[in-house]
Parts: sequence; structure tokens; C-alpha cells
Amino acid sequence: MTPETSIIPRHVGIIMDGNGRWAKKRGQPRTSGHREGLETAKRIVAHASDVGISFLSLYAFSTENWRRAEEEVNFLMGLIKTHLRKQYDFYKERGIRVTHSGDLERIPQGVRDEILLAEEDTRSFDGMTVNILVNYGGRDEIVRAASRYLADGGDPHSLDEDALASNLDHPEIPDLDLMIRTGGEIRLSNFLIWQAAYAELFFSDVFWPDWDVDHFDEALKYFEQRQRRFGGIPG
Ligand code: FPP
Repeated sequence: MTPETSIIPRHVGIIMDGNGRWAKKRGQPRTSGHREGLETAKRIVAHASDVGISFLSLYAFSTENWRRAEEEVNFLMGLIKTHLRKQYDFYKERGIRVTHSGDLERIPQGVRDEILLAEEDTRSFDGMTVNILVNYGGRDEIVRAASRYLADGGDPHSLDEDALASNLDHPEIPDLDLMIRTGGEIRLSNFLIWQAAYAELFFSDVFWPDWDVDHFDEALKYFEQRQRRFGGIPG
């Protein structure tokens, strides 16, 4: 694979699964799996920006994750908040822009403020975009997009794919090229379901805290080998 011939996906999305099982295997609380998972996320963000990925979406907290024990929910919220505050220099150094997808409303104020601040502070950066999904659900995003369209006076009879897409949380972020799920489960779990319509799917049995740059490169290699047809006939 030489840089001239390699096909690098523009937008990669990751379902970072297996933190809880990673911790359980070690007799540790689930929260230590999440702490370690954050370290993996930092490694992968740095590597993805090194190899020239333009957009990286990370599923940090879903609309379904509120059903978890309060202690775990609070821990995850705290982890996201502290990470955003502490990582500014890292993002600045690499020119990484931070964005958020999901419904901000239910997110605790302190975390919400930190998300908005990170978006604001990194808005002018022109490197990779890291899109962090917090209180995110794919169906919820589609419903919110339709509501936005109608609230802006859109004609219900004229609602089409382009109109809906332009009301998603980040219309400027292109469709997903490659979706990765770690941790052994083979499902989408409401992750970017609109944007993933034509994505290549890569599943790994490895728990997220054990993921390394080599696993990410393996996923890129898989992507490169796929013949991408978008429902058409190859020319
Ligand atoms: C799924 O594993 C993981 C999560 C719900 C949380 C992921 C969050 C992080 C790794 C923190 C990253 C934060 C940022 C800001 C990028 P699970 O708990 O469902 O694992 P299990 O299936 O083994 O129980």
C-alpha cells in the first residue's frame, strides 16, 4: 500500500464497544474500562489524524445509555467533560476541530457547556474533525432533523432526502465511508444510521480498551480492498 494508491476513507465512525467486558475480565469495575477506553480514543484520534482521515465520529454516549446505573452514567459524563477540558492543547497542536452530534438538551449543564466551549474554541482549526456523539441516537437525529425542517417553515410535501440531510446535526460532515465496531457484536445500535447508508462495515472481536493503531490500520486495509459500488454496476 503506497500513499499514492491507497484509498483513505474521508469519514470513519467507531462504535467503541467492550469497555465493560474488558474491565470484568480483569475483576475491575466497569468504570475502569471506560477510563481505559478514553486512552484508546486518544491513541486512535492521533493516529487517524496522522494518516489523513478528515472526519472521525466516536460514539461516546447513546440515547439508550441513560438506562445504565447512575454511577456509570455520572462517570461517563464526567469523563467526557474532563477530557474536553484537558485535551484542548492536543487538539490545537494538531488543528483538530471538535464537533458534537446528539441532543444537547438532556446533557447535564456542566458537560453541555464544555462541549459548546470545545466546539467554539476549535471552530477555526482546519485539520481533522472529531465528531463526538453524546446523547446521540440515529433515529432521534432523523426526527430532530425533520422537526427542524418543519419549524423553519419547510413544506411537508417537499421534504426530500436533500432537505432532510441538510437539517441533520452536522450537514457539513459527509456520509460515513467506514463504520467500525469493536467488542464482538455485529449490529449498528442506532449509530449514524442515515449517514451509514452506503458505509463499509468492519467488525472486530477486540474490546475497545485493547484496540491499537494496528487494528485501525487493519480496518483501513479492509476498506481499501472493498470494491465500492454505491448500488451501481462497476464501470
Ligand atoms: C461501550 O462499551 C462504551 C461506551 C458506552 C462508552 C464509550 C466512551 C468512551 C470510551 C469514552 C470516550 C470519550 C470521548 C470523549 C471520546 P460498553 O460499556 O457497552 O461495554 P460492554 O458491551 O462490554 O458492556
